[in-house]
Amino acid sequence: MRTPFSRRVFTTAALAAPALALPRRLGARPAFAVPETADQALDIFQLKAAAQRRLDAGAWHFIVNGADDLKTVDANRAAFDDWQIRVRRLVDVSRVDTRRELFGEALHVPILLAPIGGQQVVHPEAERATMRGASARGHLMVASTVTTCAVEEIRAAGTAPLWFQLYPSPDRELMRFLLRRAEGAGCRVVVVTVDSPTRGNREGERWFAREIAAKGGRTGNFEGFGGPPRIGDPAATWELVPWLRENTRLPIVLKGIVTGEDAVIARRRGVDGLIVSNHGGRQEESGRGTLECLPEVVAAVRGRLPVLVDGGIRRGTDVFKALALGATAVCVGRPYLFGLGAFGEAGVARALSILDSELTRIMQFAGTTSLDAIGPRSLARRTP
Ligand SMILES: Cc1cc2nc3c(=O)[nH]c(=O)nc-3n(C[C@H](O)[C@H](O)[C@H](O)COP(=O)(O)O)c2cc1C
Repeated sequence: MRTPFSRRVFTTAALAAPALALPRRLGARPAFAVPETADQALDIFQLKAAAQRRLDAGAWHFIVNGADDLKTVDANRAAFDDWQIRVRRLVDVSRVDTRRELFGEALHVPILLAPIGGQQVVHPEAERATMRGASARGHLMVASTVTTCAVEEIRAAGTAPLWFQLYPSPDRELMRFLLRRAEGAGCRVVVVTVDSPTRGNREGERWFAREIAAKGGRTGNFEGFGGPPRIGDPAATWELVPWLRENTRLPIVLKGIVTGEDAVIARRRGVDGLIVSNHGGRQEESGRGTLECLPEVVAAVRGRLPVLVDGGIRRGTDVFKALALGATAVCVGRPYLFGLGAFGEAGVARALSILDSELTRIMQFAGTTSLDAIGPRSLARRTP
């Protein structure tokens, strides 16, 4: 019989934490155990522990850091605890259907890989490994503007559906160049990140700037552009939306909308979808978790646009809660980055498979045999 964790790792962890009563801990989530292979990881937290053990300080802080005092990073997680799941009994849940269609894409599960730039900092195979992991599990990947590999290389690395994330730039030629590049590579949607009029105060990243820069280096999508790539436009306004419409045939999804007011403007401006996101708590230190923002955005679009959400999703139950509050689908960032840092493409695939199976399990307990069956009645608000 295969033991899930090596005895050595187990003993080391136990000895390193003599204050923890072992039997009690064994009854709880074994977060103290650090898996040595992707398959051993039982949850996202164990992938995180493995990434922390394997990565150097620069790469580790690149992943986990956030704005100011990380209150928004923490709020993203904490917001899930405000909701409880109302389970139902004696429903035939021998089959659970997690499929959803999104912009013509037939997803077998509504969990996307959020755009993350510069993945070479975390793994030498960078986004190629992520694409291979996503393809192994059939999950849609959103490629960032500032990936290490160019979008064509990411496309060639696997078969998973691919979207492109675009940052606004004061240089419209650069934006046109990137849109052409994404379209040429077969990306089917452009996700425009609107939460970056300036860079968040990420002190972890600033402290380890030299180490991170030494590993990062390349930004494939800028290769072939004849000028300095200026990314981030503090002067960008809603005029960006008609400009995008004129300059791409792809559906336009805005990433970073967190209020009902902005959702209404976006709807009136004719965007095709929204992602409720605060960049994983890396931009503004608002202290607001994205799950707290989701209901007002969902209410504002009145069912006319798909609304996705990301930030702090680490469990299938988190995905379930987001769907119950009206999300069409979710994106995850750090969960697959932990997998990538720990075990490369196998770690990415493992992160996705953990989330998939956890979602199916909670759907079975909740008596919801399809995504459409998950709704407001699936949740109860925690009483203070
Ligand atoms: C290291 C790192 C790099 C990121 N790079 C980008 C990026 O290039 N473009 C973007 O729109 N979002 C970027 N994000 C934000 C993610 O797309 C996503 O919104 C966030 O990670 C979701 O929160 P989670 O990590 O808690 O799942 C990045 C996030 C991290 C952790």
